[in-house]
Amino acid sequence: MKKPRIAILGATGVVGREITKITEELGIEFEDIKFLSSARSAGSKITFKGKEYTVEEAKPEVFDGINIVMASAGGSTSQKFAPEIVKRGGVIIDNSSAFRMEKDVPLVIAGVNDEDLRRHKGIIANPNCSTSQLMLVLEPLKKFGIKRLIVSTYQAVSGAGLAAINELREDTIANLEGKSFENKCFKKPISFNVIPQIDVFCDNGYTKEEMKVVNETRKILHLDESTKISCTAARVPVFNGHSEAVDIEFEKNITPDEVREILKNSYGVKVIDNPENYEYPTTRDASGVNPVFAGRIRKNLAFDNGISLWCVADNLRIGAALNTVRICKRVIEMGLF
Ligand SMILES: NC(=O)c1ccc[n+]([C@@H]2O[C@H](COP(=O)([O-])OP(=O)(O)OC[C@H]3O[C@@H](n4cnc5c(N)ncnc54)[C@H](OP(=O)(O)O)[C@@H]3O)[C@@H](O)[C@H]2O)c1
Repeated sequence: MKKPRIAILGATGVVGREITKITEELGIEFEDIKFLSSARSAGSKITFKGKEYTVEEAKPEVFDGINIVMASAGGSTSQKFAPEIVKRGGVIIDNSSAFRMEKDVPLVIAGVNDEDLRRHKGIIANPNCSTSQLMLVLEPLKKFGIKRLIVSTYQAVSGAGLAAINELREDTIANLEGKSFENKCFKKPISFNVIPQIDVFCDNGYTKEEMKVVNETRKILHLDESTKISCTAARVPVFNGHSEAVDIEFEKNITPDEVREILKNSYGVKVIDNPENYEYPTTRDASGVNPVFAGRIRKNLAFDNGISLWCVADNLRIGAALNTVRICKRVIEMGLF
């Protein structure tokens, strides 16, 4: 198998650090690797597989000879560098929302729609974090015909980057000490609060985050307009790990036991579902590990063939870094670089 020359763009950020860690965990084999950031962190050191690397400033010429770039440096950075990477024959696996809905860009959850990778023209997009965890749970159930889907998310602050993690910590301390605190990352105080806004509002009254769940789910699962999807996304004062309440109406009849059995045997999913013993997944179970957890699987009382469930995952892993590195692994295995 051909070994690629790899670059991690945004290596000093929250997602970039996870990508670095998981690249080692998944044993990605490469010819060489480089770590890139903005001018701000250039020159800082990263230790990877016992060796120290100096972070370089991202500039077009640093992508010369690079085969695969795992990027998590924001939409405008990806927009700036993607053409430079593709022009030089490289493939970019991008975490930002810059290219997700473009027709020629495969939007992929590894293990769900790997075959879409074959259509890539140099850019591969990683879905939004709240969509990602949902896909691993929905894909195995898709054969029962998804008629209607309602998702309510409870999203951790790590999904908004390093500055947001610091803001939750500092706001909590200020609040407990009775001091005032000026919030910058969020529109409202995040400590001891729940904020029903993630990203900006669209004309239809939904937020961009909510519409990402709607549109990306359709693209990844190849669902047409006949499947009705709605989402409400809220930010909660949790450092890491997104939770989702998911209500699904199916075309065919399906029981909670069948769902449990299918999900138990599905790629990337772990079922914890024994409510009598208080066994159900929480963000503390999910943070720092790879599975998407499902529990509280029950018959939905509002739909005829309906199932409700609770789904929790480490948003930095499955929602960003783990999926990016899994895609990188598939691109190498499928010889797509
Ligand atoms: N956090 C999540 O759960 C999550 C999930 C899915 C997708 N994403 C996406 O992943 C991206 C990064 O998120 P994050 O949470 O890791 O943010 P972050 O912690 O703020 O890190 C941003 C990274 O990008 C680098 N960067 C910024 N501007 C750059 C530029 N002009 N050129 C080169 N590098 C630049 C930064 O380098 P410096 O250290 O030099 O500033 C840093 O390494 C965003 O697009 C975000 O939407 C995040």
